[in-house]
Amino acid sequence: STLFVLNGPNLNLLGTREPAVYGHHTLADVEALCAAACAKAGFALRFHQSNHEGALLDWLHEAGRLHQQGELAGVVLNAGAYTHTSIALHDAIKGTGVPLIELHISNVFAREAFRHHSTISSVARAVVCGFGVQGYVLAIEGLARL
Ligand code: DQA
Repeated sequence: STLFVLNGPNLNLLGTREPAVYGHHTLADVEALCAAACAKAGFALRFHQSNHEGALLDWLHEAGRLHQQGELAGVVLNAGAYTHTSIALHDAIKGTGVPLIELHISNVFAREAFRHHSTISSVARAVVCGFGVQGYVLAIEGLARL
């Protein structure tokens, strides 16, 4: 079955963006980590990044259609700052019923107060946060065990 890894705004800047917070790995490195973890778990990987909220919604809807056909392992979503603002992402996750892991590279709870609230957590199966880019691997392994 298929597993989506979706990345939101500014995650294309990984590697150069605040390396003290997010590390030195690039998004291409993250994709390679995810590809290896999916190969091991027997999942076909769909890996995407967009700075546009609507693109993330479209991929969630596509994941929802695969879910209805019994062809979706789940979604790993790092929604970036939309995590803290987007009711539309909340509604899409709820409306499609996709099994979704909310992911953050950094420990958002050790950072600014505006990162402590997520619109997504209440509709996510689980949350992975603070493990750096290895969190993507943990989230994929977690979906394999659900
Ligand atoms: C992030 C945390 C968010 O607060 C931030 O806006 C991001 C990345 C993370 O992966 O740690 O863009 O989701």
